[in-house]
Amino acid sequence: MTTPCIIRGLGHCVPETRLTNADLERMVDTNDEWITSRTGIKERRIAAKGETCVSLSHQAALKALENAGMRAEELTHILVATFSPDAVIPSAACMLADRLGITGRMAMDISAACSGFLFALETARAFVTLHPQAKILVTATDVVSSRVDYTDRSICVLFGDGAGAAIVTAADAAAPAGSGRVLDVLLATDGSMGELLTIKGGGSGTPYKLGEAVRSDFFVQMNGREVYKHAVRAMSGICKTVLEKNGFTKDQVDVFIPHQANLRIIDAVGARLEMPAEKVFTNVQKYGNTSAASVIIALSEARAEGFIKDGDLVLLGTFGGGFTWGSALVRF
Ligand code: ACO
Repeated sequence: MTTPCIIRGLGHCVPETRLTNADLERMVDTNDEWITSRTGIKERRIAAKGETCVSLSHQAALKALENAGMRAEELTHILVATFSPDAVIPSAACMLADRLGITGRMAMDISAACSGFLFALETARAFVTLHPQAKILVTATDVVSSRVDYTDRSICVLFGDGAGAAIVTAADAAAPAGSGRVLDVLLATDGSMGELLTIKGGGSGTPYKLGEAVRSDFFVQMNGREVYKHAVRAMSGICKTVLEKNGFTKDQVDVFIPHQANLRIIDAVGARLEMPAEKVFTNVQKYGNTSAASVIIALSEARAEGFIKDGDLVLLGTFGGGFTWGSALVRF
């Protein structure tokens, strides 16, 4: 039995630097019409020198703590979902805890590519079930630009950098107004599809020797068409399943937040779920695909902008490399 959990604070942070389609036209053989019609993306935010997974996570975490009316010292667990930590060792979570000025807490990274936020949210629910007093910082952050080859036009137009954060605790009487009750999270993986979306270079299977030049395997490699097909099928399937499992119809969903990979995927998933366009929140136009951060940035932004209102039932869906995918239901 899972202890009922709430999201009691949300925050997000994106770098100031914008990379527009016009900028990309000057870098590779592409154009605004191709990018817009294939992806819906107009610009993305790119980390400046010194902006990292940990620094962006830190900014998002401070906002989520403020939103929750909590101090960092109250946190018991720190989770960072990312594929682009500042270093292999120490983990981004240990570095983030240090930056927040807290020691002696459990802190760890979670790797599930673009589904990272939901994998971390479910991990937080498990910790709350084990430790009902837990106050958990869940951040999902990716500096995708650190693993993008900006001479590869098929990849560099798609991605951006950013961070989102949520404070997760047991649902108690002291829950602040506006908290979101996590009703369910479903997760899935299929490693047999792993080769369709990879970053292998630098891993122990594809190590680099001292002095060796970086190869293309250091950067995101993807079979876009195949990823597109599986993303649409898996995300719509798991979103239907979480609704059925919890006894909701699609009409009871007030807001749908899909992984912000590109508008064509979002539209195709929305069509399969028969979700009216006005219920679907999108910000991929201005941020591109921020990987693990995508749905938590969207959730935080949608709540801050009033797109999600008190009482709304929110459906989240993700899909990413691995393959990994998931869905969640949150009642605000
Ligand atoms: N500008 C101009 N032309 C381009 C560009 C570009 N940036 N990139 C590729 N092209 C060209 C290709 O070279 C190809 O040319 P050719 O026909 O002469 O060989 C042509 O455009 C068509 O290429 P396709 O790859 O077939 O284009 P497609 O219509 O499939 O769209 C896209 C590509 C946008 C990547 C699509 O496959 C897609 O959305 N895939 C999903 C991938 C994704 O979002 N992944 C993110 C990570 S996983 C996730 O988050 C879900």
